[in-house]
Amino acid sequence: MAAPRFHDLEIAAVRSETPDAVAITFAIPEELSETFAFTPGQYLTLRAEVGGEDMRRSYSICSPLGEARRRTVGVKRIADGRFSGFAQTLKPGDRIKVMPPQGRFTAEIGGAHNYLLLAAGSGITPCLSIATSVLSGEPASTVTLLYANRNSSSVMFRDALNDLKDRYTTRFTLLHVMDEEAQDVEIMNGRLDAAKLETLAHHGLIHPKAADAIYICGPEPMIRAASSAMLAIGVPEDRLKFELFTPAADATPRPAPASTNGAARAAEPGSSVEIILDGARRTITVDARADTVLTAASRQGIDIPWSCAGGMCCTCRCRIVEGAATMDENFSLEPWEIKAGFTLACQSRPTTDKLVLDFDAQ
Ligand code: FES
Repeated sequence: MAAPRFHDLEIAAVRSETPDAVAITFAIPEELSETFAFTPGQYLTLRAEVGGEDMRRSYSICSPLGEARRRTVGVKRIADGRFSGFAQTLKPGDRIKVMPPQGRFTAEIGGAHNYLLLAAGSGITPCLSIATSVLSGEPASTVTLLYANRNSSSVMFRDALNDLKDRYTTRFTLLHVMDEEAQDVEIMNGRLDAAKLETLAHHGLIHPKAADAIYICGPEPMIRAASSAMLAIGVPEDRLKFELFTPAADATPRPAPASTNGAARAAEPGSSVEIILDGARRTITVDARADTVLTAASRQGIDIPWSCAGGMCCTCRCRIVEGAATMDENFSLEPWEIKAGFTLACQSRPTTDKLVLDFDAQ
């Protein structure tokens, strides 16, 4: 299968969700319908030149399954986020490069399940897609969504969530937690941390042990706190799904730190790295003391697929077919994938004179 590539898509609509967040809808041409098919929970990577720099950033799809020829993502402006700031200026008719849906934070629709969704801030975006798709596609399933925000003005997709509440009165439970605005029910005030989750479970407002799957999406500290709270409550680890998404700052492939384990073992002065992509073979030189495969490839004009550049999204996944490499970080590859020889190009540094990486491998 070919590695994912960018496509030029037209923006069909832009809707303001909060003072610092927009929902951007892309029109999907008929010929790209298959390419942009998705599973609820996946994201799109957008690419644009911002301030003279070629940048890319991933945003979760909030569209439900069944929305033909349109895909909507939610974009919240983050502090010092050049791309997220740029995204707020987009308008209908603009065109932007978009990579087809990626990601493993997914819900396959079918069967009957109890879902617990824990979202904070813009982490609501994939949870909205999952909730809407589950409620319409699994008539016997239930969804409880616990959504944390600072206050009511930072609640994204308020109308869509209220519509779900009105439509699925017996199968959808929506709970808001706010830490800067007092709500009538005292227990719903404060930060969504481990103690809050354990209190909510203790009072029967959420039922983690009865959930078939728990999806957690938000800032990294919230994900870590919620995961450990769920484990402490007794939820089996394999029922937890979370996504460490893009880093706090805009993603940019970055050169290596001066010294890493990989660099210490690296061949000098540089390794020959052969890249197999879309059936073609190209060779670059990678000095592991200074570069990952991704940064070296970018510098040498080879456009390999990437999105987060932080070891989180798997877009740069490839298979080592000859030689060896180490990874600086890995937040996304499963143990079986590493055993099967897969690596992340954005984190990989060769440790042999020759390295062959196959981006077409499944
Ligand atoms: S680009 Fe996201 S893991 Fe490498």
